[in-house]
Amino acid sequence: MRNIAFFQLEDWEKEELIIGDFFAGQDVKVTTSQEVLRPEVIMPQSDFEVISVFVDSAINKDILERLPNIKLIATRSTGYDHIDLEECNKRGIKVANVPSYGSDTVAEYTFALLLALSRKIYDSYNRVRETGSFDLEGLRGFDLSGKKLAVIGVGRIGSNVIKIAKGFDMEVLAYDPHPNPELAQEYGFTYDTLENVLKQADIITIHTPYLPATHHLLNEETLALCKKGAYLINTARGPIVKTEALIRSLAQGHLAGAALDVLEEEGSIKDELALMTGGRTLDKDPDYKTMLANHLLIDMPNVIITPHNAFNTTEALKRITSTTIENIQKYLAGQPINLVN
Ligand code: NAI
Repeated sequence: MRNIAFFQLEDWEKEELIIGDFFAGQDVKVTTSQEVLRPEVIMPQSDFEVISVFVDSAINKDILERLPNIKLIATRSTGYDHIDLEECNKRGIKVANVPSYGSDTVAEYTFALLLALSRKIYDSYNRVRETGSFDLEGLRGFDLSGKKLAVIGVGRIGSNVIKIAKGFDMEVLAYDPHPNPELAQEYGFTYDTLENVLKQADIITIHTPYLPATHHLLNEETLALCKKGAYLINTARGPIVKTEALIRSLAQGHLAGAALDVLEEEGSIKDELALMTGGRTLDKDPDYKTMLANHLLIDMPNVIITPHNAFNTTEALKRITSTTIENIQKYLAGQPINLVN
């Protein structure tokens, strides 16, 4: 009997699994849980061979030690920085991701955030809803047409962002250590150094994975290169931007605003909320300084923060589920796909 466990599964996902009966006729037992995978939710003597998790489950040494039989982690996400790959490699555990479920989804959300910033949609909405006033004071925005957009990381999501930006008649500058000249020609944008794109851009949007090389890619020095009055959007991963440096830049009026779907230590914020509402205890040592900084950011008037929601559409979630099941089926058949290690 081969044991597979899905963690943090919503009811509809569980229903899809049951209706699909994807592992019928195989000697497979499927366990499902709504819980994020944390050390305390693992039963002693768990013999799962495959686990499927979402980005809130931090798969570290502590977890892996409690799952001695595990051979495959199928993450229901593109990013896999929540999984300690080095520890997986030591233990011969393979990790499969969902490489491209949300290239349009996240690109569209990037523009939702950009338009919310450029046209002060939240302030406008709140004004009418909360005060009933139709006064326009403080609600003037700016056009996107003709503005320079810096795209940091031109992969699947970044290139869709560029496609949309072209529809808005924006000028696109891109930075990527692995440039694709044919794409630049086809979409009509130019690559340059990180320094040059930051210096010229009116709006900067980040679409790189979180890697050692992208940790705090935007920090005191690189943010200082940005044009005064520029805006920053981050839908990639929180730690690509150094929170303290961002707060300082916004507070000093260097950057004019930011829209962030991801935060450093965002997991700790969720834990903190659970602590207040569900009586859970913090199970890892969060960086309290960054958590405090996140609260400062949330309260800044020129900042929009959303709860890692860019991927969250019906269509994208269906693609995630079907690719994850395929990843597991292929692994069971001895022909694993979408491996990242
Ligand atoms: P991708 O792998 O297709 O593209 C990433 C691009 O970044 C590549 O072109 C790569 O050359 C480039 N890159 C690598 N190192 C870089 C560096 N140091 N500086 C600049 N560029 C660099 O990835 P995709 O599908 O476009 O996704 C990007 C990231 O978006 C994911 O890794 C994930 O962290 C994040 N994401 C966030 C979601 C959300 O809900 N907020 C949902 C899906 C993805």
